[in-house]
Amino acid sequence: NLINILTISGSLRAQSSNSALLQGIAALAPGHFRFTDYNGLGDLPHFNPDLDGDGDLPHAAVSDLRAQLKLADAVILCTPEYANGVPGVLKNALDWIVSSGEFVHKPTAVISASPNPLGGDKAHASLLLTLTMMTASIVENGRLMVPFVRSKVSSEGVITDSSTAVACTLMLQSLEQSIHLNKY
Ligand code: FNR
Repeated sequence: NLINILTISGSLRAQSSNSALLQGIAALAPGHFRFTDYNGLGDLPHFNPDLDGDGDLPHAAVSDLRAQLKLADAVILCTPEYANGVPGVLKNALDWIVSSGEFVHKPTAVISASPNPLGGDKAHASLLLTLTMMTASIVENGRLMVPFVRSKVSSEGVITDSSTAVACTLMLQSLEQSIHLNKY
């Protein structure tokens, strides 16, 4: 059975270490995993409830995000921390999903990565609070903080640190188990 994972990097940077880490996870996954990278964070309009009422036709970028989430069996979010918080573009995307509910019971994993020693712990905690409010299903082994990320993931997207690779493998296994529990 194929497993469709949607990855979302919280960084818009071309050389993002968070995006590189997501690439590294896709590279170490077993063959029946399929990865789609959502890269539309920068195209989303600013969240405005006035544009999100019943009967409003959503902006094309919002419809696209919702459709990609709906198609995914599971989601992996990987984000930097900016000024002790979740990057605005990522929080903005999540705010568009509160009303439409694509995260409800969705098997989800949350990673934060930073060159700093704390690994983006504040953004990580904040993102978990938001996803929990949205009733995402944060899976076992689905929370990972990666400090000193520059020494663990190459810019080409290869995870060079063995304990990070093990943690990511366990995360994928938990996501797979959670998908099966959801379906059967
Ligand atoms: C940062 N960075 C950062 N790191 C951190 O651990 N805690 C923080 O609060 C912040 N704050 C912050 C603010 C701003 C404006 C910038 C530009 C950077 C550093 C950040 O973790 C680093 O730039 C990462 O490399 C960003 O992730 P990507 O883009 O490499 O995925």
